[in-house]
Amino acid sequence: MAVVKLPVSRFIKGHKAVRDALRDTQTYSSDLQGDSDVRTYRQLPLEVDPPRHHLYRSALAPIFVKPAIEKCEAAFAQSTKRLLTEFLKDPSRDVIPHLALPIVMHNLGILYGREKDVTEWISWGPDVWTATGPERDGSVLHAYIDRVYEESMSIESGDVWHRIAHMEIEGRQVSAIEFRGIVSVMLAGGRDTMVKMIAGILLHLGNNPADKEMLISEPELIDSAVQEFLRYLTPIPWMGRTTVPETGATNLPDDRYVNISFVSGNFDPEVFPDPTTINLRRERNAHVAFGFGPHTCIGNHLAEFEVRVFLQVLLAMNFNWSISADTAIMRYPDELSSVPLVIEKLFITV
Ligand code: HEM
Repeated sequence: MAVVKLPVSRFIKGHKAVRDALRDTQTYSSDLQGDSDVRTYRQLPLEVDPPRHHLYRSALAPIFVKPAIEKCEAAFAQSTKRLLTEFLKDPSRDVIPHLALPIVMHNLGILYGREKDVTEWISWGPDVWTATGPERDGSVLHAYIDRVYEESMSIESGDVWHRIAHMEIEGRQVSAIEFRGIVSVMLAGGRDTMVKMIAGILLHLGNNPADKEMLISEPELIDSAVQEFLRYLTPIPWMGRTTVPETGATNLPDDRYVNISFVSGNFDPEVFPDPTTINLRRERNAHVAFGFGPHTCIGNHLAEFEVRVFLQVLLAMNFNWSISADTAIMRYPDELSSVPLVIEKLFITV
């Protein structure tokens, strides 16, 4: 999910302040219209406050609970291995569109039972809002969502879109607009975020082969490595909140938007000693890469699982690579200038 664009008036920074603000949904509300240049509906359950938030969240939870994700283990591993093997036949290609995005989209296709749509999802690129070119535009995503909504109304497929279209919220079936709100975040949430995870892991292990050897010889470190990569890469660096809920409000103040900085929490030196170093042995890693409080990422188990499977498959293939000069990385300013904000292109040499 790309960061929602809002004209923010201030940032909330630091591990404690970020967690406190994320818990305090009365002061810092999610009742806001993000991406207003490309959509007019709310992303759900993202842009709605408790207690209503809970209705959408609990209806979607069964899709993302651990047992549902764990059933996909063999299929994720098989797909990841196939895609890595294919990529290595011509490793001169950019990792982002040719390896990371396909891995992530195939995993989503497996979980959602929509493998037939994976080629179409990949064709949109890592960010659903730039599927047609550099200009932000929602038409490709919305045409897809409206099409699968129509299908779900007429065909008893029983797949994930059918289940969502027939879900009941407060005793009534979700509307076509609510369906857009749910499906858009289900397709965008684990997309550029997971692509950054896969690219970031290849980048780090390519530059630090000793860490790769350590994970091969001590596979019990994979779980702490997953958490450390999440902390360090913080794929969603910040999210907006509004100090005045927007629904039904008139005279909304221009300075209502606040950014809650997950990245400042994840690099808070009071909580994470030597924060700009990737330490795959780091313990008690209370990162906020998935946020905190009621809106904590619903895809967190899926994301952790995908990263773990990727690491296991990658390490089992036991090949060496280095990072090529054509790689393009946008970094944070100031004290985080060693940390990647966006990995735009990643080229490896095998
Ligand atoms: C490494 C990968 C991921 C990261 C870092 C990430 C990060 C986040 C963060 C920080 C939030 C909280 C936003 C807020 O507080 O306003 C969030 C919410 C959400 N994420 Fe993720 N996410 C990831 C993967 C996924 C995946 C794989 C999915 C599903 C396919 C997903 C779906 C969602 C949804 C639906 C929400 C809204 C939850 C709510 O409002 O209750 N995310 N994610």
